[in-house]
Amino acid sequence: MSESTRRYFSKAAIAATALSYSNILGANDRVRVGYIGLGNRGDQVHDAFLEHGDQVTAAVCDLREDYMDFAIKKSRATPKKYRDYKKLLDDKEVDAVAIATPDHWHALMFVDACRAGKDVYVEKPLSLTIWEGRRMVQVAAETKRVTQVGIHRRSVQSLRDAAEFVRSGGIGHVTVAKGYHVQNEWPNGIGNVANGAPPSDAEWDAWLGPAPKMPYNRNRTFYNFRWFYDYSGGQITNFGVHYMDFIRMALGKEAPRAVTAMGGRYVVKDNREIPDTCEVLWDYGETMVVFSQYNANAAPGNVKNAELEIRGTKGTMYLQSGKWEVVPEKTTETLFGYRTPLDRGIEKAWGPSRKPAMEAMTNGTGFAETYPHTRNFLDCVKSRKKCNCDILEGHLSTSATIIGHIALRTKSYLEWDTKTEKFTNNAAANKYLSYQYRAPYKLG
Ligand SMILES: NC(=O)c1ccc[n+]([C@@H]2O[C@H](COP(=O)([O-])OP(=O)(O)OC[C@H]3O[C@@H](n4cnc5c(N)ncnc54)[C@H](O)[C@@H]3O)[C@@H](O)[C@H]2O)c1
Repeated sequence: MSESTRRYFSKAAIAATALSYSNILGANDRVRVGYIGLGNRGDQVHDAFLEHGDQVTAAVCDLREDYMDFAIKKSRATPKKYRDYKKLLDDKEVDAVAIATPDHWHALMFVDACRAGKDVYVEKPLSLTIWEGRRMVQVAAETKRVTQVGIHRRSVQSLRDAAEFVRSGGIGHVTVAKGYHVQNEWPNGIGNVANGAPPSDAEWDAWLGPAPKMPYNRNRTFYNFRWFYDYSGGQITNFGVHYMDFIRMALGKEAPRAVTAMGGRYVVKDNREIPDTCEVLWDYGETMVVFSQYNANAAPGNVKNAELEIRGTKGTMYLQSGKWEVVPEKTTETLFGYRTPLDRGIEKAWGPSRKPAMEAMTNGTGFAETYPHTRNFLDCVKSRKKCNCDILEGHLSTSATIIGHIALRTKSYLEWDTKTEKFTNNAAANKYLSYQYRAPYKLG
């Protein structure tokens, strides 16, 4: 054994005693990953892990047999199959899990996985409620787990560069940061599906998990659960959390001081609960953050048809997936205002002679890929370092979006206390910060 290997192993042994995690992995080891939830996103996350030769698909878990079989087929391995995620967590040959179930399941599965000694990659939004998110942060710290929240844009280099550029003052002081979710779902959206018989009572019960018992409705399940508040916070937490996370990273801010919102189900005629149209506004001190959901008209939300628009005093940054550009602001040397016949000098400050305040810029590629995020997770599982979007970052970004949909649902202007994670001016809104799990489910 070489000196450096010996040093590595003795360090690892100390770490193992101190941290009590189940398997110590060296740089050349393969990480044995168990996948829980293999639907739309679970399949994409599995693909993003399969990009890396040092992961092995050790186990799969879903309520659907066909989804598990599909994952097994592409895994280039012989993973074990579990219908019950707790059995997967008992498997000593699983080092880490990737959770991509609907939002209302994240907290329970995450906490159970941490307590079972697994490192965890968990999809965004981190949680359904603020209380769950805070508990996840606590348990991850208690159990010393490596955690990565699936806000994968955090690991896209061009977006990291963009955030750093804004944070270092590149576009001046940012007064407004806007995220847009624009698509036309008018007139029928996801349709008006009637309640019916579930594929099986046991499967529907397991899908609902801690959520309230409800008659089976197909629209409440695969993918479309995002349109129902028992399982999701709607597009504000779904797409909004990606935007909010970038904005927080670019502003270097933890949490907003206040939030308000307006909108509703104006025209889309389906059985959704979330709005088709809304505007949410957060006060981040010297910056206003806005999320615009326009789902009944797909005209671009801004001149560049970008998802994000960050308006600085020197320039505006537009971002679309992994790509960004900055359009310089034009400067004026004299005061902007109404002219009188005596103020001839001011005229020079108007019109095309104004100078750009900075250079125009473009950067990045078209698509924000997920595999750099899974790479970062695998590296951190081995090094025990913090991931790019660890549990706390994921919680802070998710919380900001959750309080957005609470403002919308309570039609309120809500003041937010970051320390207590409560609203200080609205007791009724505080009731939305947690919910009673259906028996026998309990968050440990
Ligand atoms: N990071 C991203 O860009 C991104 C993109 C899409 C979705 N997501 C997130 O991924 C999560 C899943 O979304 P989706 O679109 O894949 O939904 P989906 O409905 O397609 O998939 C969810 C899967 O979880 C399974 N499942 C449900 N309850 C389970 C249980 N108790 N045990 C085992 N499996 C269970 C379902 O059978 C289903 O296959 C959501 O939280 C969503 O926000 C993230």
